[in-house]
Amino acid sequence: MNSFARAERAGVELVERLGGRFDAAVVLGSGWAEVAQGLGAVTGEAAAETITGFHPPSVPGHGGALRAVAAHGKRVLVLAGRVHLYEGHPPSDVVHGVRAAVAAGCTTVVLTNAAGGMNSEFEVGQPVLISDHINLTGQSPLAGPAPPNGYAIRFTDLTDLYSARTRLAVRRVDPSVGEGVYAGLVGPHFETPAEIAMLVRMGADLVGMSTVLEAIAARHLGAEVVGLSLVTNAAAGIAGALDHQEVLDAGQAAQSRIADVLNTVIRVL
Ligand code: HPA
Repeated sequence: MNSFARAERAGVELVERLGGRFDAAVVLGSGWAEVAQGLGAVTGEAAAETITGFHPPSVPGHGGALRAVAAHGKRVLVLAGRVHLYEGHPPSDVVHGVRAAVAAGCTTVVLTNAAGGMNSEFEVGQPVLISDHINLTGQSPLAGPAPPNGYAIRFTDLTDLYSARTRLAVRRVDPSVGEGVYAGLVGPHFETPAEIAMLVRMGADLVGMSTVLEAIAARHLGAEVVGLSLVTNAAAGIAGALDHQEVLDAGQAAQSRIADVLNTVIRVL
């Protein structure tokens, strides 16, 4: 089965198992998992590995749940247990959740992540809307065999990839939410200070290890894309040394702030 057909099958399973079609999807990044609990009532749940093409959680007992949540009059599909390139998975697996979500009816995909901040205006703990991205993974979810009949051609336009309408609406409600360009790298190591200096010159404000391939796949399928980063640390060479625990702690400290922003995003969709 090709990766598009596999995602369509997963979409059908999600609709059957979680009680109907969806309006929007939220992909949870580091730091965002608990926030999604506060979005609304959970009306259905499935373990990721019970749906076609989804991976079991890489840390047993953590994440990996696919949930239906009722929020602001919308049916939201909340996807935990994101798959990363740095785990050795191919791009088609990295974007499987997004493709399945669109097959399950989602017309908007909200991609959340933790990111290093390179813009001096950003503070640790600040939520930032992604305005555009620089894909430095060297990969595309659209490389490989052409998409099957019925799909858009692979030469996807990425102009205005991240919904300007949603960014405007969110910042009207909360002007403290930042906006910036996200550079997506493979990782899993953090960057060198020289790499960060290069990324700043390229015009990036945020750096992370996810999101860019999922955004491309969602756009190819015609979905509206929203990107939301939590700045968990100043990028390498800007403040002190980097530490994964620091990233996790910053996520923990920012819970109520990012919960508010995610709620606002869903409300204005
Ligand atoms: N670099 C890359 N990915 C990240 C960072 C960072 O500084 N912080 C959180 N995710």
